[in-house]
Amino acid sequence: MKILAIETSCDDTGIAVLSVQDGSTSGKEGNFVVLANEIASQIKVHQKYGGVFPAMAKREHQKNTVPTFVKALKKAKLLNPRPCTLDPKKVKTFKTILEREPELLKRIIPFLKKYSRPAVDYIAVTNGPGLEPCLWVGVNFARALSCFWDIPIIPVNHIEGHILVNFFNENSKLKILNSKLPTIALVVSGGHTQIVLVNKIGDYKILGETRDDAAGECFDKAAKILGLGYPGGPIISKLAQKASRGPTPTDFKLPRPMMYTKDYDFSFSGLKTAILYKVKKDIGYAPLKPNFAKTKKGKIYVAEMCTEIQQAIIDVLLKKTLKAVKDYGAKTIILGGGVSANSELKKQFQQACDRHCEEQGQSGNLNLVFPEPVLSTDNGAMIAIAGCYNRKKIIDWQNLSADSNLRLGE
Ligand code: KG4
Ligand code: ZN
Repeated sequence: MKILAIETSCDDTGIAVLSVQDGSTSGKEGNFVVLANEIASQIKVHQKYGGVFPAMAKREHQKNTVPTFVKALKKAKLLNPRPCTLDPKKVKTFKTILEREPELLKRIIPFLKKYSRPAVDYIAVTNGPGLEPCLWVGVNFARALSCFWDIPIIPVNHIEGHILVNFFNENSKLKILNSKLPTIALVVSGGHTQIVLVNKIGDYKILGETRDDAAGECFDKAAKILGLGYPGGPIISKLAQKASRGPTPTDFKLPRPMMYTKDYDFSFSGLKTAILYKVKKDIGYAPLKPNFAKTKKGKIYVAEMCTEIQQAIIDVLLKKTLKAVKDYGAKTIILGGGVSANSELKKQFQQACDRHCEEQGQSGNLNLVFPEPVLSTDNGAMIAIAGCYNRKKIIDWQNLSADSNLRLGE
């Protein structure tokens, strides 16, 4: 059985193909193979603005979807070059489905004339949460293919994708066994910051989330204030490594918003404002000019700021995650989303888990699981894996819609 997966919730166009052997959803053996996991990034387009513009991201998805789809099918050896005559009735329906995606329609008609139906059994597609205009590109692409080729659709929650990609190792063997449940998943990206209690695959409860900006968004906005590029997370993380070792000088101290509140919620917009005011006070203006970080004084200042920004974000994420672990007796922490690619974050979470084990003894084993960087950021493989587990939830293309506020466990 093969699952084609489509992910367009933010600024990455991800198309993957997963081959699944029978029985793999029993949860004992994850015997599947990722045949292709192609991603078209829009970083270059959004770089000059320091953030993702939904209308522009939608346009890019429309341009990138078909080429990425072709690449993925080719890699999975499923590209079927056989000229087809298109049934005019179907083409008419097809045009209605892609009415609001004219650029995609323009690219897909020639594809359908040139290639015939690939041997896939399901189409899994992210239908939320995410940026509404972007989600619709993937959703309508899936609807169009489903209508044209008669392939059932599995709607997938993007956050579930970030969580489930952690359940398997590179040989697709289940690595979070029942004895390591429940787990607390921290999903941190440019669009989301959520703490989710995972009792088992399919059983989720959102314990807390950000009330304003996401953690990745805070990295991105902070980088913009410091005159650095986009996306901010990897740049800040790299520059922080260049800062002087040892404790951060107190005059670089930034607030840790909501760190000690009794809930599992976050707030990062105050941190961004504090960074803005601090830079204005220290340097005299903000955002900084890109050349500032190249001067001798600028290099030291920006590196120290990056260290402190990164640490402020890690501190609150870690504190709230450990609180959830304690309150719910979790045996595993899962990290997911773009920010989980941050090596300092992973290091400090690992140290915290080791400390927890030392304090609690044998009974208190706490495992840390995170994806390899290519599976941390948005990709199609995570949607295919989540789709595999949701095969019973297939719906007709007529009934599928995008929901930017889709929530796990509801
Ligand atoms: O999951 P993702 O690819 O897309 C969204 O769903 O948003 O995450 C992108 C976010 C960006 O905000 C980016 O700055 C952040 O993840 N990010 C990082 C790192 N790599 C990506 N943040 C901190 N450290 C990193 N190494
Ligand atoms: Zn994501």
